Amino acid sequence: MKVLIIGSGGREHAIAWKLSQSPKLKRLYVAPGNAGMEELAQIVDLAAKDQERLLKFCKKESIGLVVVGPEAPLTEGIADRFQKEGIKIFGPTKFAAQLEGSKAFAKEMMKKLSIPTGEFEVFTSADKAMDYVAKKGVPIVVKVDGLAGGKGVVIAQSMPKAMEAIHRDMVKKVFGKAGEKVVIEECLEGEEASVIAITDGTTVRLFASSQDHKRIFEGDHGPNTGGMGAYSPAPIVTPAVEKEILEKVFMPVVREFNALGHPFKGFLYAGIMMTPPPVSSRHSTGPIASQSGFKVLEFNVRLGDPETQVLLPRLKNDLLELLLAAVDERLSQVELEWKDEDCVCVVIASQGYPEEYEVGKKIVGISAAKEDSDIHIFHAGTKHRANDLVTAGGRVLNVVGCGRGMFEALSKTYHAVDKIFFDKMYYRKDIGHKAAKITR
Ligand code: AMP
Ligand code: GLY
Repeated sequence: MKVLIIGSGGREHAIAWKLSQSPKLKRLYVAPGNAGMEELAQIVDLAAKDQERLLKFCKKESIGLVVVGPEAPLTEGIADRFQKEGIKIFGPTKFAAQLEGSKAFAKEMMKKLSIPTGEFEVFTSADKAMDYVAKKGVPIVVKVDGLAGGKGVVIAQSMPKAMEAIHRDMVKKVFGKAGEKVVIEECLEGEEASVIAITDGTTVRLFASSQDHKRIFEGDHGPNTGGMGAYSPAPIVTPAVEKEILEKVFMPVVREFNALGHPFKGFLYAGIMMTPPPVSSRHSTGPIASQSGFKVLEFNVRLGDPETQVLLPRLKNDLLELLLAAVDERLSQVELEWKDEDCVCVVIASQGYPEEYEVGKKIVGISAAKEDSDIHIFHAGTKHRANDLVTAGGRVLNVVGCGRGMFEALSKTYHAVDKIFFDKMYYRKDIGHKAAKITR
């Protein structure tokens, strides 16, 4: 079968790497891809948003399955369009993708289904949003409704910061239409984890747990980024928590989409905050203390980046068969199997990211870093310039290492990172340390 992956980051490189191991795969294409994917797939020079030309390409090449990496094409309705034209595509429809494309939609659905989540209100008027914040006090979270490339969430620790965020979104309209509505949400405290599932519209299969590191600096400080690292499994997601999340989050959402007449097919990602139990119950062993206390922060309708980079090396199943089982609605016949190892991803970025940074820096050391067979290098922002590999983005490389236990995975990964160099490279040195503490 010929497969086309849409996207260009580390997540898509990891998907390409995993799909290329399938005996079912005849030829792999990726649009627009990156330099790292060239050895696995044929690069198609079409942007993810260029639906018409992508469709033409799929027809011409008789593509058997299209796999969509990022959220934007899904919220723009690529699945609906391609399905209508008889092209098999993995990913939710435009209606279902609202779960990520509109935070108000997601929060209203969570409220309707009694899914644990922070208290919130949705506003279309800046004055009303400001009145609400004045009444609720800080800290408080201000989120633009639509997609904002990870920049639409402000955790305001002071009243001026909260007001400034509302002003930025609704008066200055920095995010355009995405900020016509804002969600103002209770500020939750705790540890985050990512729980991702694959669904065919009826059956839900949970992936192994994972956790990413959103902040740029060590110790989880500084601005949010697309993700500076990840690890799997996430020890805070115990089997009991996993079961509860399946029953209280994924199953109700999938049933609700069916009831609405728009089955959800694809990856469904719940960003979870494990909130600590109330102070009064921390030392008791009663029923309240044993509650998991998770709350859903957000839904995504795709795999996470960089979570994918630590999940796919652990997945034993053939990914192509798995995706086809979901598209063809026979996921009930498939069980997921995971390698009993830990996996860590360290993102190497350009200094200055997520703000201003330089590109075009020559990258060396990748072959040396890959000498260990437990190391995978998934590219994000790279390109070829003459015979060199050079940086071409904020997040440049994902160094992924697997091992028996978190310590082994961490030591292998950082050992590989040490072999790579480019001018002004930056990475966090504390990826996975929280998990290592829990599992020690
Ligand atoms: P979201 O796009 O909604 O996941 O938000 C991005 C990030 O902002 C999350 O991963 C959290 O780190 C943080 N965040 C979102 N909502 C909240 C909240 N209610 N309380 C605390 N932090 C939050
Ligand atoms: N790693 C977070 C995300 O993919 O949205």
